[in-house]
Amino acid sequence: MSEVLELVDVSVVREGRALVDDVSWSVKEGERWVIVGPNGAGKTTLLNVASSYLFPTSGNATILGEKLGSVDVFDLRPRIGMAGMAMADKLPHDQTVLQTVLTAAYGMTAHWQEQYDAMDEERARAFLDRLGMNEFLHRKFGTLSEGERKRTLIARAMMTDPELLLLDEPAAGLDLGGREDLVRRLGRLARDPYAPSMVMVTHHVEEIPPGFTHVLMIRQGQIMVAGPIETELNSRNLSRCFGLPLVVEQHGERWMAQGLPLG
Ligand SMILES: Nc1ncnc2c1ncn2[C@@H]1O[C@H](COP(=O)(O)OP(=O)(O)O)[C@@H](O)[C@H]1O
Ligand SMILES: [Mg+2]
Repeated sequence: MSEVLELVDVSVVREGRALVDDVSWSVKEGERWVIVGPNGAGKTTLLNVASSYLFPTSGNATILGEKLGSVDVFDLRPRIGMAGMAMADKLPHDQTVLQTVLTAAYGMTAHWQEQYDAMDEERARAFLDRLGMNEFLHRKFGTLSEGERKRTLIARAMMTDPELLLLDEPAAGLDLGGREDLVRRLGRLARDPYAPSMVMVTHHVEEIPPGFTHVLMIRQGQIMVAGPIETELNSRNLSRCFGLPLVVEQHGERWMAQGLPLG
């Protein structure tokens, strides 16, 4: 199996502080990783490196076989799908949902200008359908609820047929129904052998979709745990990661965590 992402001793230093601190981590083709860690642990910063939008201060990052620093990122970026709320802010609010997804095919966030291919439109509709966004094709992006916006961003990230799909807290801010719906859809994607390799950031183990294979736990920019979810996602590791006593349980294909009662 080849590597889609390989970080070796990667640090990202800002204002004298290592936001990502000497991280070595690799993702192989077909793996589905979840990144767990407290607020401010460096999860988004790590994804920004993995998406080639941020260069490490030191260390080496190789993405889809291309080493950051010696590859034209404009060739690399279409091969990576990134869905995070930072992207949502860059997208024009007056575009329709369909347009928002379609513009990804041309690697731009800008307005609807060109004649899009009928085939691209068909693909955009298919991804939106898969994410349950059928009824919203002609709604303006800016009028969507948070959950609808997130599902649109995931469809958009799929549009370039990426080899690596990065999701930053896709379920954050959703209500229970919205979360469960998204987890189910991501679970289906995770199990699809033709789907890209996936990395998803979350604060909550309840949001881990079935079919995810590996877990990375980070705290203060450092890796605490990296390995198969079945063995590494346990009470001991999660407690160390969040710095308080936690109990994690697996129920069927899903996970649950809670704090130990005091005393
Ligand atoms: N450009 C920056 N300059 C300085 N500090 C930053 C910058 N970007 C993020 N940070 C800080 O780095 C830490 C990690 O941020 P982030 O990667 O967003 O964490 P997470 O996604 O795990 O919550 C936070 O303390 C954040 O305030
Ligand atoms: Mg974050």
